[in-house]
Amino acid sequence: MDVNQSTLQPQPGHFYAVGVGPGSTDLLTLRAARLVEGCDTIIAPQAKGAARSLSLETVQPLIDRQEVVVVNYPMQRDGEKTQQRWQQMAQDIAKRCNSGQSVVQLTLGDPLIFSTSSYLLHGLTDLLPTANLHVVPGISAFQISASRLAEALTVQEDRLTLMSATDLDAVEQAFGQCETLVLYKAGTCIQELIDLLGQHDLLGRSQLVSCCEQGEHELLVDDLSRWDVQPLNYMTTMIVKLGRRPWDKG
Ligand SMILES: C[S@@+](CC[C@H](N)C(=O)[O-])C[C@H]1O[C@@H](n2cnc3c(N)ncnc32)[C@H](O)[C@@H]1O
Repeated sequence: MDVNQSTLQPQPGHFYAVGVGPGSTDLLTLRAARLVEGCDTIIAPQAKGAARSLSLETVQPLIDRQEVVVVNYPMQRDGEKTQQRWQQMAQDIAKRCNSGQSVVQLTLGDPLIFSTSSYLLHGLTDLLPTANLHVVPGISAFQISASRLAEALTVQEDRLTLMSATDLDAVEQAFGQCETLVLYKAGTCIQELIDLLGQHDLLGRSQLVSCCEQGEHELLVDDLSRWDVQPLNYMTTMIVKLGRRPWDKG
């Protein structure tokens, strides 16, 4: 799979997993914008029951003559039906590519970080030549969240861990294994996370960003020890600073 190729214009028969970043058009890369503008077909995810596709809205100003296909991805992770659905989607994309179309699949953030693109890319490896599969990176949630806090994620020999917040035992283990811990999907288990951080006296070292780049919905909490827990959107990322920084006092 060619992940490094300088991709100037979408090519007939090629598939592009394109990261669109956190949801603002001006945070698209130039490469992503060029591919979206020039491709034949745009595949955009929309959560079942949701009224809108955020990734599609992000590229809306660039849409003109392209065909837009909005898809509901499987909600369950495992199981035969889910596998079949991914396979079916991969086959539909391969069919379009084999008929000469260039196909862009949009993904929020980066396509290789907790992304449905991974399932599609896996399914497509058997159906299209590897030279026809491309990944275009996007600004991931850990980057946009850290930028809001304007504090270093890593310095010197620091270790940075990105993980899902949903496995609390694994989160607890990670406390001893890195200097900075970034927890994706923190909105799904916020109360349990707060309890766990409190038990380890880490609330004052923990911050969260919810719905970053989503206007009035955005929430920034730079010290969780001074925050009253409230239900949060799924689009919530937490940053826990476990290690000391050269400029820390005391
Ligand atoms: C399925 S993952 C998608 C990650 C995405 N591929 C990326 O690279 O950012 C969804 C998780 O990403 C994080 N996330 C995505 N968009 C976000 C945003 N706008 N603000 C804060 N966190 C966000 C949240 O942790 C959310 O639960």
